[in-house]
Amino acid sequence: MSTLRDLAEEHTQLRPADIDHLHRIAGDWQLLSDLSFADLLLWVPVDGDGTFLCVAQVRPTTAPTAYLDDQVGRIVGGPEVAHLEVAYRQGRIWREGDPVWYGDVPARHEAIPVRLRTAHGESGEVVAVVGRDTNLSTARTPSQLELNYLTTADDLAQMTADGTFPPPRHPGETTSAPRVGDGLVRLDANGKVTYASPNAQSAYRRLGYASHLVGEDLAKLHRRLASDPLEGTDAANGVLAALRGEAPPRREIDARGATMLTRSLPLMPAGVPIGALVLVRDITEVRRRDRALITKDATIREIHHRVKNNLQTVAALLRLQARRVSMPEARVALEESVRRVASIALVHETLSMSSDEAVEFDGIVDRVASAATEVAATEVSVGMRRKGSFGVLPAEIATSLVMVLNELLLNAVEHGFPPAGEDGVAGPEGAAPPQVVVTAHRFRKQLHVSVADNGRGLPAEFDAERGGRLGLQIVRALVTGELRGSIELRPGAAGGTEAVLVVPLARGERG
Ligand SMILES: Nc1ncnc2c1ncn2[C@@H]1O[C@H](COP(=O)(O)OP(=O)(O)OP(=O)(O)O)[C@@H](O)[C@H]1O
Ligand SMILES: [Mg+2]
Repeated sequence: MSTLRDLAEEHTQLRPADIDHLHRIAGDWQLLSDLSFADLLLWVPVDGDGTFLCVAQVRPTTAPTAYLDDQVGRIVGGPEVAHLEVAYRQGRIWREGDPVWYGDVPARHEAIPVRLRTAHGESGEVVAVVGRDTNLSTARTPSQLELNYLTTADDLAQMTADGTFPPPRHPGETTSAPRVGDGLVRLDANGKVTYASPNAQSAYRRLGYASHLVGEDLAKLHRRLASDPLEGTDAANGVLAALRGEAPPRREIDARGATMLTRSLPLMPAGVPIGALVLVRDITEVRRRDRALITKDATIREIHHRVKNNLQTVAALLRLQARRVSMPEARVALEESVRRVASIALVHETLSMSSDEAVEFDGIVDRVASAATEVAATEVSVGMRRKGSFGVLPAEIATSLVMVLNELLLNAVEHGFPPAGEDGVAGPEGAAPPQVVVTAHRFRKQLHVSVADNGRGLPAEFDAERGGRLGLQIVRALVTGELRGSIELRPGAAGGTEAVLVVPLARGERG
């Protein structure tokens, strides 16, 4: 489906600033739709031919829709859009007339010109028209709530035509704004409440205000209710700013363990400040969940930290034992265990410092690789290089993968480049310097890894399927088990040995 911007750019001569304004309308017009109990369609004139194109649509959450079908992308001309033409040409709100019928749904049409103020705040050109279409099939004598909503809707419609609604956006507002249904309060020019919806009344009750809101000075009330005096002043100032015709950022009020989000909007049809609209939402639960998440996050990090500490203790114990034993084979075996444990500790250390259950893996590989060259029992100096990136990996993959890579790297250094004289094979004169290259890339939700050395190659008797002692057994168990991937050891293209590893990354493929 095309976006508002695509449609406008393809069919009209609207300037970028106009289109930005249309985006602002579409970002804030649920409010107008809900207060109007009406569908809103955003129409832009198509170049010169008297037709209009619908670039956006919103349905009321407070009433039945007049349009079961999506209208976006429709281009309409002739009598059906005559009212849009009037609003567009004359720059005034058009209403009345007999109901029109969509199938068997009677509807009332209105047209609100959308004006874009100039940079100097003067009223500028009409760039589009909002069609306000009410489904009349359920219309009846309106309740007090409905009358209040409709009056406010008319003020906002006039402000749309004036170019003062929607107000400018405040960057960084992430929590979704309170909606009409969450709670609505209307103030007169003196800041006294003239109407409060039942939900608004309930939201204030949770903050500890039990009486009826009508007649209250809302700014003073905010100051009184807030547990934190600074927050109370801030919330009061929000209301006062709206009364002066400004659109302040959203504010929160905490009282008695409850939290309320408020959004204050000026009401100034035809440029005359007549009061303000305050939308409120009880966000106590949202904030409670936020806090719980923060502590859960901190707990998980703390656990990783402790696991890391414990593993380091285990490694230290093994190292101590390795020093005590006199049998060389036993000592080597213990030292290798130290390295295995230490490489897992590395993953937990990284996880204890990150904010989620995923790790930036390249740093870990580089550390394991340089450890492998340092500790391997060899006199040959082996170069290590990483090509490509592992990217961010989920913790459960990272823990197994670091073990696998540790084994492969140690093998490459130990067996690829044995100390000269161990079995009498010295590197040929003038050969390339000993080097191990780790390559990683992602392809089709799989991670492809290769560990290649330019050493002396696999022994002739090596069984690619089953060969190997503990090291390769660990590798095969982890790759086919935890990682659900595959591993192959083969002679490298330019000599040496290459281990090729494929690990699926998509969650669905992992049990
Ligand atoms: N990159 C390599 N180059 C040459 N030979 C290798 C290479 N990788 C593995 N091998 C051969 O495969 C054998 C099995 O490796 P494996 O890691 O299972 O055992 P290991 O390294 O001998 O002992 P450990 O259990 O301590 O790892 C090695 O002994 C070696 O002969
Ligand atoms: Mg090994």
